[in-house]
Amino acid sequence: MSRERGQPALELAPSILSADFARLGEHAQAAVEGGATLLHVDVMDGHFVPNITIGPPVVASLRKATKVPLDCHLMIEDPDQYIPAFAQAGADWISVHQEACIHLHRTLELIRSHGAKVGVVLNPATPVDTLSEVLGMVDYVLVMSVNPGFGGQKFIPATLEKMRQLAAQRQAKRLDFRIEVDGGIALDTVADAVRAGAEVLVAGNAIFGKGDAKANAQKLLKAACDATLRRA
Ligand code: DX5
Ligand code: ZN
Repeated sequence: MSRERGQPALELAPSILSADFARLGEHAQAAVEGGATLLHVDVMDGHFVPNITIGPPVVASLRKATKVPLDCHLMIEDPDQYIPAFAQAGADWISVHQEACIHLHRTLELIRSHGAKVGVVLNPATPVDTLSEVLGMVDYVLVMSVNPGFGGQKFIPATLEKMRQLAAQRQAKRLDFRIEVDGGIALDTVADAVRAGAEVLVAGNAIFGKGDAKANAQKLLKAACDATLRRA
């Protein structure tokens, strides 16, 4: 359903949360030159998570600055109220948290109705089973490997099991959603995530934290690709 012809098996989605917001276009471009095929945009409202970041105007500006799809991760309460504005601003992928949506099915349909790829996100403490009724209607499932709210946190290894469960359920139910991982992805954790089934790799600090974003992206993608060769 969601896998398009020619779509790479592994994709790097740098999180702009760790970029220099005053040089956003430049930083995004460097990551794309390093092999990123998506840009991950972390939207935080100060309610669902204890931090505030950006809204649709920044997405609209980024949309003009780059051609790669924008993957908007909404860490907000009442996402239905804002989904149309993000889609209008140019979000190509929109994900919402299972924990934030009382009427999750309706919210996912709302994303679809605006023409964006449909994603659902699980916090570290939320089991995969909570998605059993909606797995057939999403393009991707995002497994949080840190508690959402901040960049630069430590990867939680226990979340690998959820990536394995999702990959197994996808096969058993003959579904086609992709598995995305977000939080603490770096050179020392990316191989475990890829071997567990992650295909879309979000990384903030590892790309924009220090050094050159282009070189950081190249190194992380290479480590991810090397891990697929050793995937069980
Ligand atoms: C956390 C965000 C992540 C975060 C990833 O709430 O959803 O996207 O920015 O950053 P790193 O890779 O630094 O953990
Ligand atoms: Zn994110």
